[in-house]
Amino acid sequence: MTTKIIEITVDETLPIRHRVMWPNKSIDYVKLPNDIEGRHYGLFLNEKLISVISLFITDTEAQFRKFATIKEYQGKGYGSLLLQEIIGVAKNENLSKIWCNARQNKTDFYTKFGMVSTNRTFVKGAVDFVIMESLLP
Ligand SMILES: CC(C)(COP(=O)(O)OP(=O)(O)OC[C@H]1O[C@@H](n2cnc3c(N)ncnc32)[C@H](O)[C@@H]1OP(=O)(O)O)[C@@H](O)C(=O)NCCC(=O)NCCS
Repeated sequence: MTTKIIEITVDETLPIRHRVMWPNKSIDYVKLPNDIEGRHYGLFLNEKLISVISLFITDTEAQFRKFATIKEYQGKGYGSLLLQEIIGVAKNENLSKIWCNARQNKTDFYTKFGMVSTNRTFVKGAVDFVIMESLLP
């Protein structure tokens, strides 16, 4: 089993976003208005793309969004490898912070990567979210 993480196009991220997050909606539903400004990364397992994440960088901060691993491959550590990689990208860019809108039931996962919950929360589509962030050294 060989894994590789590389930058991919937004078009490559869409089928996994769609299949994992909103399979019952149209593919357009998983497009973000600012996708063109993002950097998209994919983890390939033996040349097959199985996990994707999108990074949106402003002057000093990076937000990651649309993090998804194909269901059959979840819980095997691949998403962790990908998240670790993009935290490294943010550090290399000398950014001060990386953050995300986390589903409340995913906060323990992000805590493992040094992210902490802020007091900023919201509800979207009946799902509770909290903004989590990590200040980069
Ligand atoms: C969130 C998501 C991208 C994580 O990807 P993943 O490939 O399953 O991630 P991992 O396998 O690295 O970690 C998932 C869990 O498996 C555990 N795990 C199992 N085997 C592991 C291994 N060999 N190495 C590391 N972690 C392992 C992790 O500790 C983690 O546990 P936790 O959720 O209890 O914290 C994936 O679950 C997903 O696509 N979910 C649906 C979409 C979604 O909710 N996106 C995020 C919105 S905030």
